Amino acid sequence: MLGRLNHVGVAVPSIEAAKDTYRTLYGVPESDITPTREMPEQGVKVAFVNVANSQIELIEPLGPQSPIVKFLEKNPQGGQHHVCFEVKNIYEARDEMKARGATVLGEPRIGAHGTLIIFVHPKNSNGVLIELMEESKEAH
Ligand code: CO
Repeated sequence: MLGRLNHVGVAVPSIEAAKDTYRTLYGVPESDITPTREMPEQGVKVAFVNVANSQIELIEPLGPQSPIVKFLEKNPQGGQHHVCFEVKNIYEARDEMKARGATVLGEPRIGAHGTLIIFVHPKNSNGVLIELMEESKEAH
């Protein structure tokens, strides 16, 4: 069921500071860093750092109700938040995960790439929050 690793999500207190780390410490060119976008429905700001075979998703809280506020309280410098795999069909993936006894968090919704996503509880995956993302029709 799992397709390509699409991205690794990293929660950070400041996206701009994190971008600077990738630019100055790792030499990522500006053209591989996307503009920061607000996603009010998810309570986050996001930007992507493109690397050769994947992406790092930088996530910063948008407002005090943000779902990553607690994570950053526990990890004040930021930290790895989730891993995202592509799936062919998000509704089939959701049903399959539920049938296998996994705890799916919420209903399919539009994610940062404009395709449908769900999250699977970390308790089902060795402590790692897993995002499943319907692959983009354009990219394939
Ligand atoms: Co993500």
